[in-house]
Amino acid sequence: MFNPFEPGFTDDPYPTYRRMRETDPVHEHPFGLWILTGYEEVAQVLRSDLSVDVGRVTSGAFREQSDELASSGLDVLTLSMLDRDPPDHTRLRSLVAKVFTPRKVSALEPEVTELVDAALDEIAEAGRADLVPALAFPLPFTVISRMLGMPPTDSERVRELSGLLVRSLEPVNGPEMLASIAEAGVEMTAIIRELIAWKRKRPANDLLSSLIMAEHEGSRLTDDELVAQVTLLYVAGHETTVNLIANGVVALLRAPEQLAMLRERPDLADNAVEEFLRYDSPVQQTRRVTTRPYTVRDREIPPGTFVVAALASANRDENYWGPDADRLRIDRDNARAHVSFSVGRHHCLGSALARLEGRVAIERLVRRFPGLAPDGEVEWNGRINLRGPERLPISV
Ligand code: HEM
Repeated sequence: MFNPFEPGFTDDPYPTYRRMRETDPVHEHPFGLWILTGYEEVAQVLRSDLSVDVGRVTSGAFREQSDELASSGLDVLTLSMLDRDPPDHTRLRSLVAKVFTPRKVSALEPEVTELVDAALDEIAEAGRADLVPALAFPLPFTVISRMLGMPPTDSERVRELSGLLVRSLEPVNGPEMLASIAEAGVEMTAIIRELIAWKRKRPANDLLSSLIMAEHEGSRLTDDELVAQVTLLYVAGHETTVNLIANGVVALLRAPEQLAMLRERPDLADNAVEEFLRYDSPVQQTRRVTTRPYTVRDREIPPGTFVVAALASANRDENYWGPDADRLRIDRDNARAHVSFSVGRHHCLGSALARLEGRVAIERLVRRFPGLAPDGEVEWNGRINLRGPERLPISV
């Protein structure tokens, strides 16, 4: 049985995923949810027209969890595109995509480089660091805050709140955690509402102003929908990329020949980022809800069921990647076929930004510090889904 609470799972979930792929790749869990672990099955379900609206789950542990969260005021956040089906999804995504363009993202490279270099200067001076607070977290947090045009805010508090909010993406939470998530949701949406009100009075050339304008053009976005999209961008903008950077560095430190190859071959930097995304997925799972009997392999999943697509497991499936699936290989030809950003209609809108931040951060870190080495044990954050190091001590 899949038991995410078994000791060691969140430190290294890959042996469990391997066992599941080998014995039961379409797994019916006693909590009333189904878990898909094979590449083909995961890709099939992501490309399907299954729902993302967890309000349509009719039974099981997740039904209780989502009832609890919905009744707590957190329901505003279910208006984000991540939780909506067409036609709402199409409308919301196209509004945000119109202002969050690849051109805006690539124009950010000099600024991202500057931020990375400033962080590396501090690390150089100290000779050692915990890479999470020194680089992996503040880089994406600063970039998305500036892109949105957020006024200076209590970033420590926002960090705590978003850390709690993303717990709602965990497959299972206890009652105390659910209460904390709900409280965090209420406080976070209040902060975002204040920021929007502040920005309405001081429009500028930033994402938040563009989204506010989009709201006015024919009222295609309600107030609550605006709050939900901004919160999604803000939280998704940093709670995920932190894991790309930190997991990527852990992977390199554990495979010194790959670290050496990246130093010798800077032309591999883009491909290396794809391989980091494949090898240790920053977002390990996503979810769908069946709205009709749905067949995967030869199993039929009943309607109203919560289905977990284990992206991280699909990314290690030997049937797809071959016998070296468990090895980091930054020159892997087809690394880009990973499903870390999902595929299909909900494919990550921030993938270009995440790739840019990941590449600049890791490339400049390894180039600057030939003596880069671990300086103690990695401490994992204990999450099943947005899994990454809580602490990553390095010396340079
Ligand atoms: C959606 C992963 C960074 C914004 C998604 C989904 C995944 C994902 C797996 C789709 C979930 C599904 O199909 O159910 C990641 C990873 C990141 C990352 C691994 C970093 C390494 C970002 C960033 C932003 C962002 C930096 C924005 C600033 C979004 C948005 C969606 C999304 C808006 C919703 C798209 C939709 O529902 O149509 N992301 N993400 N993500 N991501 Fe990301």
